[in-house]
Amino acid sequence: MAWKSFKQFTPEEKAKSDELVRRGHVRHLLTPKQRELLDLVTSTKRAKLAYYASRRSGKTWGSLLIAYGLCIRYPRLTLKFILDSQVQARDVIWPIARDLQDVIPPDCLPVIKKADMEIHFSNGSIIKLGSSNKEHCDKLRGTKCDIVLVDECSFHDAGNWEHVIYSLLMPQMLHSDFGQFIFTTTPSTS
Ligand SMILES: Nc1ncnc2c1ncn2[C@@H]1O[C@H](COP(=O)(O)OP(=O)(O)O)[C@@H](O)[C@H]1O
Ligand SMILES: [Mg+2]
Repeated sequence: MAWKSFKQFTPEEKAKSDELVRRGHVRHLLTPKQRELLDLVTSTKRAKLAYYASRRSGKTWGSLLIAYGLCIRYPRLTLKFILDSQVQARDVIWPIARDLQDVIPPDCLPVIKKADMEIHFSNGSIIKLGSSNKEHCDKLRGTKCDIVLVDECSFHDAGNWEHVIYSLLMPQMLHSDFGQFIFTTTPSTS
């Protein structure tokens, strides 16, 4: 399917889209630029990936939709979605999750646990929202993580990165088949 905003889908296109999404395929819902991120994520395993795109080009929206697609496709996946602050996590992610309710077929919609900052899928996959700042990063601790998605990495507290990546996250990813870190950001000139 060539790209067309989901808002312009005909009922037939929406039905076709739902069929793909139920299998975890979200490519048709992504803009051509967002597809570059999906290609990066799906073509490489156990890596640190960087994706640059201009402001308002759909980095966060596309990343969350790609995260949904991966969670639907792979049962019991744990994906950590990291923003620079808890406020960002709440103010940026919940509105996108609201948009995605119109994109994801109702039978695949995850349960949004706002108080826990988590998104739960019926197959056991989970997206955990977190932030890298000193005050809140300890909440990123855990026993298992498959994929880490860092939104707008150039705006995070650079002084805390080593601790977040090497002490908190990497040990959780050692036994994962995925083990990916995906960093998205806006180039400084945009
Ligand atoms: N694939 C898409 N389909 C429809 N709307 C989209 C898509 N990607 C992004 N958008 C719209 O573009 C807006 C900006 O996206 P966002 O992810 O916030 O940009 P960025 O993170 O790059 O600044 C979103 O609020 C959303 O409404
Ligand atoms: Mg963004």
